[in-house]
Amino acid sequence: MNGQVSMLKPASSNPATTPKLTDELVQNVATKRAQVSALLKAASAEFNAITFANSYGAEDMVLTDIIVKENLPIEIFSLDTGRLPAETYTLMGEVESTYQTKPVVFFPKHEAVEQYVRTHGINAFYESIELRKACCHIRKVEPLQRALAGKQAWVTGMRAEQAATRASLPTREFDTGNKLEKFNPLSDWTEQEVWAYIRMYNVPYNALHDQFYPSIGCAPCTRAVAMGEDIRAGRWWWEDPTSKECGLHVKK
Ligand code: ADX
Ligand code: SF4
Repeated sequence: MNGQVSMLKPASSNPATTPKLTDELVQNVATKRAQVSALLKAASAEFNAITFANSYGAEDMVLTDIIVKENLPIEIFSLDTGRLPAETYTLMGEVESTYQTKPVVFFPKHEAVEQYVRTHGINAFYESIELRKACCHIRKVEPLQRALAGKQAWVTGMRAEQAATRASLPTREFDTGNKLEKFNPLSDWTEQEVWAYIRMYNVPYNALHDQFYPSIGCAPCTRAVAMGEDIRAGRWWWEDPTSKECGLHVKK
């Protein structure tokens, strides 16, 4: 067992995570996989220092699977905010054993977290957008800056369909905020294609997705959505959907 708990998952009754694998869908996903693989291969040939931001969400598991299986020279890192759901840590362990890798994790600066909590309280992010953004800055944005330091390009699992703020997301752009090239290889993928990939290639995924969590971030700022509700409705659900970004993907 190598210290790992068996990860057998109960069969899912969530239609979003169990699409019907029609011939057309399977063919479409196989074609898109080849396109993503070609894009990432070209990107890693163009940029020596290239890194992939893995949140362990469904999209990022697709990219992890392609990067590892294709043996691409792209580093994979994650931001551990200290407030992630238990299910995400379970998946991190599962990814270690499935792909025989250890995660590269960036944590927030402990002095900044301690100061924030001492001044504002342990769950102060619910009190105002300013305090929420300050928490995201300490726990995500500053660690991201360290993760990207010295890199020439980074890769994300963002999709255009995910949010109003991402509607015109290109597969490649210059990240003016972080000042390096940014690749969003899944920008034109649908949620159905992401889940078809996960089922077709037997990719490990976060158990919360089956429990109607299409988008997963920190535990206190993520909840399940109702059938038909927006994909990101469960993220910072108390805020206006047109401005719901944590600062990782803000354009300057
Ligand atoms: S967020 O900005 O609202 O948190 P979202 O959860 O949709 O973003 O994720 C979009 C992309 O940002 C992910 O595909 C991933 O590339 C990156 N990302 C988000 N959270 C993390 C994290 N904790 N660690 C690494 N990358 C992350
Ligand atoms: Fe803090 Fe919530 Fe942002 Fe996580 S998502 S860093 S807990 S405000």
